[in-house]
Amino acid sequence: MRYPAGPATLRRLGARLRETITIFDTTLRDGEQAPGCSMYLEEKLRMARQLDRLGVDVIEAGFPVASDGDFEAVRAVAREVRRPKIAALARAGRDDITRAWEAVEHAARPRIHTFLATSDIHLQYKLKITRAQCLEQTASSVAYAKSLCDDVEFSPEDATRSDPEFLIDVLQQAVDVGATTLNIPDTVGYTIPSEYAQLIRAIREHVHGIERAVISVHCHNDLGLAVANSLAAIGEGARQVECTVNGIGERAGNAALEEIVMALRVRADRLPYETGVVTQEIVPSSRLLSELIGFSAQPNKAVVGANAFAHEAGIHQHGVLSNPLCYEIMTPESVGLEANRIVLGKHSGRHALARRYAELGYELTREQLNSAYRRFSTLADRKKNIYDLDLLSLLPTELRRKRRISPTDSTEGRLRTSRAAAGAR
Ligand code: KIV
Ligand code: ZN
Repeated sequence: MRYPAGPATLRRLGARLRETITIFDTTLRDGEQAPGCSMYLEEKLRMARQLDRLGVDVIEAGFPVASDGDFEAVRAVAREVRRPKIAALARAGRDDITRAWEAVEHAARPRIHTFLATSDIHLQYKLKITRAQCLEQTASSVAYAKSLCDDVEFSPEDATRSDPEFLIDVLQQAVDVGATTLNIPDTVGYTIPSEYAQLIRAIREHVHGIERAVISVHCHNDLGLAVANSLAAIGEGARQVECTVNGIGERAGNAALEEIVMALRVRADRLPYETGVVTQEIVPSSRLLSELIGFSAQPNKAVVGANAFAHEAGIHQHGVLSNPLCYEIMTPESVGLEANRIVLGKHSGRHALARRYAELGYELTREQLNSAYRRFSTLADRKKNIYDLDLLSLLPTELRRKRRISPTDSTEGRLRTSRAAAGAR
């Protein structure tokens, strides 16, 4: 007799049915191209080691033809970081591709990533070539890359503003001569999720032999849609996502790695895919990058921003103190953060105040708390940052004398310590 599967069995089956998404990290290439984000060789190496710990599948280490420094940095990463694939970018031409290959040939698993624009605007104004020349150049460049390296990725730059029929013809050329990954860049961050999903579906349906290649997505964030567009494409069969730590990259940046990975993890009910990313390494990666480039993600940045797990509003603090699930959809620990942060300010309520006094060693009666809270509210209207010493000054002297705190116990001290640990965060 057969029994209907119980929820645990269904969960196990679900886990087994999950497909894996390849995480292609381009922090060291597209990210590094952004103003203020360039890195020296030793810095690139430090970041590459951290990306390895983070568990990304592919590290795009740079654009070797761009400078001798970049060439050496890509070569150093390829020689030292052995688990992930190491990719080097090259324009679709012999010299670029040769240089890219020389930079990654000693990698344990090298990849050449070559690109050529396909939109009419790029063909006409930037490259000054015809569509026929574009088709020919795609075929000859990918074939040349393939003669050097088994693993070849091809990107039709500005794909989302290209004529879809022509784009499919170009991709067909690339697959026919051996491209193993077809990346579809939204170079200028122009597309929207439904349109991008439709494009990926059309490519899957119309490029013959597409099953021999992995479809990849590469989204820029000019309209703030890079992550949404990437997730929509996964729904239509894309199995590689190109992204960067903290979302750095040209102009408004690339799809943020931490957002893609945590969306897949938090919404596994709707997004049945997994990645090899060790999520506890997300915040350490974000902090290292901030230290290397000298600026951090904006405070309200999803997942890694300084406020992503901070609560100041009274209602929220009460909820989080009772059960973090009230206002947190993932734990701070799951992304490698020590804990959430309850910030005392003019929006805070009695619960958070009572909790902080208790942490400082003061159990207040209801009347004592009410009186401290009244004084706290008046102070918080005048002062943006409230420190432990401020809180102590609100207590009556006889109560204050009952316990002394050491300066290292103070919120101020703790903030200073955690900021120092976080670099510029
Ligand atoms: O945005 C883009 O089109 C690129 C390609 C080189 C992949 O970065
Ligand atoms: Zn890009």
